[in-house]
Amino acid sequence: MNTATVNAKKIGGSAIEVRAISKRFGDHVALDNVHLDIRPGELVALLGPSGSGKTSLLRIIAGLEAPDSGQIMFGAEDASRRQAGEREVGFVFQHYALFRHMTVFENVAFGLRVVPRARRLARGVIAERVTKLLELVQLGWLADRYPSQLSGGQRQRVALARALAIEPKVLLLDEPFAALDAKVRKELRRWLRALHEEVKLTSVFVTHDQDEALELADRVVVMSAGKVEQIGAPGDVYTAPASAFVHEFLGDTNRLACRVAAGRVLLADGGVLGRAEAPDGEAIAYVRPHELDVVPSADAPAVIHHASTFGPLVRLIVAFGATNLDVAMPVERWVRLGLSVNDRVDLAARYGAVFTDPAGPAARLLPMVPGAPFAAAVRLQGAGRRA
Ligand SMILES: Nc1ncnc2c1ncn2[C@@H]1O[C@H](COP(=O)(O)OP(=O)(O)O)[C@@H](O)[C@H]1O
Ligand SMILES: [Mg+2]
Repeated sequence: MNTATVNAKKIGGSAIEVRAISKRFGDHVALDNVHLDIRPGELVALLGPSGSGKTSLLRIIAGLEAPDSGQIMFGAEDASRRQAGEREVGFVFQHYALFRHMTVFENVAFGLRVVPRARRLARGVIAERVTKLLELVQLGWLADRYPSQLSGGQRQRVALARALAIEPKVLLLDEPFAALDAKVRKELRRWLRALHEEVKLTSVFVTHDQDEALELADRVVVMSAGKVEQIGAPGDVYTAPASAFVHEFLGDTNRLACRVAAGRVLLADGGVLGRAEAPDGEAIAYVRPHELDVVPSADAPAVIHHASTFGPLVRLIVAFGATNLDVAMPVERWVRLGLSVNDRVDLAARYGAVFTDPAGPAARLLPMVPGAPFAAAVRLQGAGRRA
């Protein structure tokens, strides 16, 4: 245990603890014995494909859905006994659930005005808090507008201010940016990260978008079919995936059937892909587009089929036997190589991941020639060579 973990324990352990939560809908297992510890002030992303159980888990944390078994702890307290309304959670959904007949100001004030009179804040105090929140989400100037007069991104910022108005202990966000266009989504992602740095509210963010999760979260929980595949910092899950599923889900990659023999990773016809410290036997090697390189060679087995040359990276589709491989390289390198479509090339894997067991961790795929990973083009011999 590192010092940070020890300190977190001293300060009061987890903010939210998910203990052995399972949930079925009819015969369908939506969540299967899920465990999760969320630390105070942490922003955790639940990342997984559609149907992997993210929303179900978030709704169970919020108290909007009851689990079949397991417990949700908020600090030392068993939240399972509390109704959703008593859990002090703020919730933001994908589709803006703003009240259309209320102004932005009234929308944000809503949660404070519906409190029973005895506990309700004074009018002036409510107005002050709403004004502050609108400043926090940078929408003070739109206080008197109606939701229909706002852009999608602005509406989601209002929804966030409204969720924060009740001063929740926990903020839960279910794909809040999914309905927005890519550029706005990216802006809001950065904006939310900055906001989180400011308020440090324990937050759980659901998304199926890898980039969003990896850029936004302190830790990422990768889910598949109702189970947690891996929990870790973005850099760790990306570089050390716990399973083939995690590797494939976290970004573009090339999949190559192969075989490990005495530390060598061999393709179907015996061509050498590289080396890996893995047990002998059938395996799957993954090489991401930017980890694959091409080297001009007139009698080589692979052919460049397509090149997209916009942006800082050139993206190639390289036909190698029956497989099309994605390769990405900086424009400068592409220009230096002087290649074009239909040229023949050798391929070299700089790095990669080798799975002898798809449900287990990867062994690192490295080039055969140590110390010269960029230059040593280990030829993927033969597999694509015409008869
Ligand atoms: N109320 C429900 N009734 C029946 N099946 C449901 C219900 N809610 C979710 N499911 C099913 O449970 C699985 C997980 O759903 P969900 O938690 O919404 O996944 P995600 O948010 O990751 O897309 C899906 O197969 C979904 O169809
Ligand atoms: Mg969902």
